[in-house]
Amino acid sequence: MSTDTVLRISHGAVAFGDRAVLRDLNLTVQSGEVVAILGANGSGKSTLIRAALGLLPLRSGSVELFGRPLAKVRQWKRIGYVPQRLGAGSGVPATVREVVSAGRLARRGFLRPAGRADRAAVTEAIEAVGLGDRAGDPVSTLSGGQQQRTLIARALAGGPELLVLDEPTAGVDAASQEAFAGALRAFVDRGGTVILVAHELGPLQSVVTRAVVIHDGVIAHDGAVPRPAGHHAEPGHDHVHPHAPGDEPDIWGTR
Ligand SMILES: Nc1ncnc2c1ncn2[C@@H]1O[C@H](COP(=O)(O)OP(=O)(O)O)[C@@H](O)[C@H]1O
Ligand SMILES: [Mg+2]
Repeated sequence: MSTDTVLRISHGAVAFGDRAVLRDLNLTVQSGEVVAILGANGSGKSTLIRAALGLLPLRSGSVELFGRPLAKVRQWKRIGYVPQRLGAGSGVPATVREVVSAGRLARRGFLRPAGRADRAAVTEAIEAVGLGDRAGDPVSTLSGGQQQRTLIARALAGGPELLVLDEPTAGVDAASQEAFAGALRAFVDRGGTVILVAHELGPLQSVVTRAVVIHDGVIAHDGAVPRPAGHHAEPGHDHVHPHAPGDEPDIWGTR
């Protein structure tokens, strides 16, 4: 079970018009891994995630999810996906519980009313991200970090095996980051697999098992999680970014 291949991208390439964004990219993720996709803005992290989920076509190469070519994947409920956050203020007056309940739709079908298992899964997911006391509140009254946690709870409620998160903690307050790291740890302890895009790892650092750095359309580093160095090791400087030459191995492929 723990050696199952969840995702395999072979020689994947994505281009927009003439512009190659990903070139000959190879990535295999095994069950139980927590992979952080790192890289500068515009390096192609979201493109990688979207191509892996079949939301963007590959120019060449192939993608397999759970051992099946993308075109043959049917059980999308095995995957929970939280896209990169758009600007705030969607104005939808839904409550936390309503939004999270939407994560059960794929499981129960649209016309069947929510059963006990559905309600339990929703409650559990809301608790997991630390929003138990806000379940009945409109999402619009929540902070950005709490709204992001609501989306993560929605993905968790579907009981996925693979959670794919694009910048789940970008611009998110410290309390939400901690709550999110805890929810992720619980998910992984139960056998879940995670692929997340991050700019700053922060509290996620202890949960992530592997870092993949995208640079110039290829993988510039795949392995250990880059550690903050020097003065960046001080509290509040937990972000991951290129350091001065000579600081650390050339994981960023910039020299
Ligand atoms: N739908 C699209 N059409 C054209 N260009 C795109 C599209 N999506 C992304 N890009 C470009 O591809 C590059 C990588 O984008 P993206 O994957 O969003 O980067 P990241 O998530 O690492 O910040 C950027 O230069 C971006 O402008
Ligand atoms: Mg992105």
